[in-house]
Amino acid sequence: MLLLAGVGFPAYAASDDEQRPRPGADMLARPCFACHSDREPSVIPKLRGGPETRFIARMREFRDRRTDSVMHRIAKGYRDEDYQQLARYFRQLDQAPPR
Ligand code: HEC
Repeated sequence: MLLLAGVGFPAYAASDDEQRPRPGADMLARPCFACHSDREPSVIPKLRGGPETRFIARMREFRDRRTDSVMHRIAKGYRDEDYQQLARYFRQLDQAPPR
């Protein structure tokens, strides 16, 4: 970011994390659809719908205990507050068309 400031992009010159846009839930969730297809039948469970508390509990389980699963590596890449944002996002997708 500081480098960019040097080559004349002052709009991106934020040196402070506070000034960077936080990724929205849509961006956080995008890689999930590579495996959790929302359209095609799959053995991998769909993520839309379902109670938020269940989603968050599953993510923590993968992060802390299910170290044998590919989801362990994925869950580690997100923070607890991201889990909450994702949980809300997937619950709300219940009312949206498949993507
Ligand atoms: C590389 C493929 C892959 C990606 C990418 C992926 N998952 Fe998964 N996910 C899986 C597999 C496989 C399972 C079943 C794992 C198991 O039970 O061991 C799973 C299971 C889950 C479950 C449990 C579902 C249930 O009903 O039991 C949740 C929640 C979940 N994933 C969330 C996510 C989220 C959120 C993302 C994106 C941040 C994501 N996954 C990205 C492969 C993936």
